[in-house]
Amino acid sequence: MVELYGSANSRVGERRISAAMPPVTATVGAVAAALSIAALSYFLRDFCSFKGSTTKTHKPFSRRKSRKGLIDAIGNTPLIRINSLSDATGCEILGKAEFLNPGGSVKDRVAVRIFEEAFASGKLAPGGVITEGSAGSTAISLATVSPAFGCRCHVVIPDDVALEKSQILEALGATVERVRPVSITHTDHYVNVARRHAAEANEFSLKHINSIHAHSKEQKLANGHAFEEEKRASVFSNDCTGGFFADQFENLANFRAHYDGTGPEIWEQTGGNLHAFVAAAGTGGTVAGVSRFLKDKNQKIKCFLIDPPGSGLFNRVTRGVMYTKEEAEGKRLKNPFDTVTEGIGINRLTCNFMMAKLDGAFLGTDKEAVEMSRFLLKNDGLFLGSSSAMNCVGAVRVAQALGPGHTIVTILCDSGMRHLSKFYNAEYLSQQGLEPSANGLEFLGLVQKGSHASVMKRIYAGRAES
Ligand SMILES: Cc1ncc(COP(=O)(O)O)c(C=O)c1O
Repeated sequence: MVELYGSANSRVGERRISAAMPPVTATVGAVAAALSIAALSYFLRDFCSFKGSTTKTHKPFSRRKSRKGLIDAIGNTPLIRINSLSDATGCEILGKAEFLNPGGSVKDRVAVRIFEEAFASGKLAPGGVITEGSAGSTAISLATVSPAFGCRCHVVIPDDVALEKSQILEALGATVERVRPVSITHTDHYVNVARRHAAEANEFSLKHINSIHAHSKEQKLANGHAFEEEKRASVFSNDCTGGFFADQFENLANFRAHYDGTGPEIWEQTGGNLHAFVAAAGTGGTVAGVSRFLKDKNQKIKCFLIDPPGSGLFNRVTRGVMYTKEEAEGKRLKNPFDTVTEGIGINRLTCNFMMAKLDGAFLGTDKEAVEMSRFLLKNDGLFLGSSSAMNCVGAVRVAQALGPGHTIVTILCDSGMRHLSKFYNAEYLSQQGLEPSANGLEFLGLVQKGSHASVMKRIYAGRAES
């Protein structure tokens, strides 16, 4: 069972309306007469969970308004009280349920903001192509929102990335180009190829406008580059109005999506009553946007990073040094991270991460993330991806550092559905020596007094007896 904090457009907020109302009053009697037995038992179930929690100050939910189109359905995600972790730590641990965005992750917000700013600057217009070098959530979000902006999406990924990732992107209507994995310093690194293609799309559209296209095609054929030209034609259709490189790592639209969206929503949903925020960083957009917004509202709110194995950010935050010379990202062939978590951890300073305002950092291990994911599934019914699990490890670390009585917010970035082949694959985990084995939260040094599920079982058993 999980509980939801107020969200103006909460998707599942309606469920909690009865629980958020004052307990049994005279008016309830009149209302109860109109309730069916099924609805009444549903009410009682929620009422019990409300009484069982340590929180007594829920804001009432307003009914979810209808939303205009896909873009309008992004954001305003529920803030969920993670009951098991809250009960075990004596803190209120709240997760922002970003996995409920239409594209399935926190990156939907970023994709929309990138499009909006690109349109506003005149660098992209309907009929254009947005390019990105990523096999992750951002590419999926860009592909998801592209049709709503009247654009196409072209994604460049390393050719050793799981085939199902390109299948998802192609199913969403994006074109996918698989390239050989090389270092980020190489001109043919997938990020650099994506950047180059955006520039080429601009060139292409300019040529098209000037009616030079036909002439140029002849030239290419004469030079024996017909195949390249054909490949480009599938990305840049004849009516392509230009290209734009999304550049999620360095484009500060990413930071602004969280400074103007995620941060204010957290502030509003907690009524400003929070003590700490914690998240891991990939591009750094989320932790930077949210931490800076919360600090601007109240300097006393503590903001932390939780960093996975192989990432240099923990050192950067705690010691001011990112990596040793040997570990520098340009020196490595490809993915430098020896971690099972996806989308988080990095060994270079991005423009987005540099906007963060942090008080400290924690290290999380792969084993802790795996154990946490299974714990949350078993106790709260939360099926979360690897970065969300790591964020929850971070939330417990913060709770342990601050002590009971604090409200701590983190991000539930995406769901476990995107992580079936590794993070939720028993065979893969066993090969890595990461099989989950914990009964409770002992892997974080916490002795659980009783899981939320077992508390609920006792409540139901008691009711059945009486
Ligand atoms: C699933 C997932 N979680 C977390 C992150 C990290 O968020 P950010 O890039 O804002 O630091 C990413 C980044 O790509 C991601 O894909």
